[in-house]
Amino acid sequence: MTASAALQALQARAPFVPDLAIVLGSGLGALAESPEAKAGVAIPFTDLPGFPAPTVAGHGGQLVFCEFEGRKVVLQAGRFHFYEGHPMPLVVTPMRLYGRLGVKAVLLTNAAGALNPAFGVGELMALTDHINLFGTNPLIGPNVEPGPRFPDMTAVYDPAFRTHLASCAATLGQTLRQGVYLGLTGPSYETPAEIRAFRVMGADAVGMSTVPEAIVARHEGMRVAGISCLCNMAAGILPQALTHQEVLEAGAAAAGRFEALVRAFVRDLPL
Ligand code: 6GU
Repeated sequence: MTASAALQALQARAPFVPDLAIVLGSGLGALAESPEAKAGVAIPFTDLPGFPAPTVAGHGGQLVFCEFEGRKVVLQAGRFHFYEGHPMPLVVTPMRLYGRLGVKAVLLTNAAGALNPAFGVGELMALTDHINLFGTNPLIGPNVEPGPRFPDMTAVYDPAFRTHLASCAATLGQTLRQGVYLGLTGPSYETPAEIRAFRVMGADAVGMSTVPEAIVARHEGMRVAGISCLCNMAAGILPQALTHQEVLEAGAAAAGRFEALVRAFVRDLPL
């Protein structure tokens, strides 16, 4: 199994057991180049057995163990998306590694499209819950002990973390939306009819990551927080077509606010 050889390699090089793992989505990657990260221990994915070679030139993923806002954290730059063709067990391997290392909490960040017409491009949204429309589940297969076979998903996104995120945003004078993230495989964006259907289902944002990771993090017994950067309006809400370019631009425009919120969250994290 991928995770055990990778775990050994990671344990040999990790300088400490982090309090928190932070998965850096689009728009937050710069944190892995921050002064704190540069002073830390970087472990490229390619040094971990079972991790595939990066598919996008120049953007190999890495784990950075560092002191960040007074806490011990591991920053994950890069993630394995299901749409890249990676098997689900690999998509969630980082979560298994964090759980086995003894990490107690994960912050999952992502870029997402907004379905809720009250939300605006460039705003941040704390995940209150999710809808899994990946058409599969990362826990399918023999149960990974000692997690439960049928884990409860009543409060995937830790209520105390959500309260903390809201108070951090208020202190920073930021608007922080609260909403339900609907995850699906991609890589095509949704049609307007799909987006209308997802609104009826109760989704506020839609994206191609996070849900499998959140499920496995809970299976590992870790506490989870999630933040989406709403990088565009989902299909059919505005007259124009969607482009990856607008997602990147909105992500870049929101990066400063996103980073400030993550820093505040980590600084006073109620662990
Ligand atoms: Cl509109 N849809 C999906 N599935 N993922 C996204 C997105 C939309 N915008 C950013 N990521």
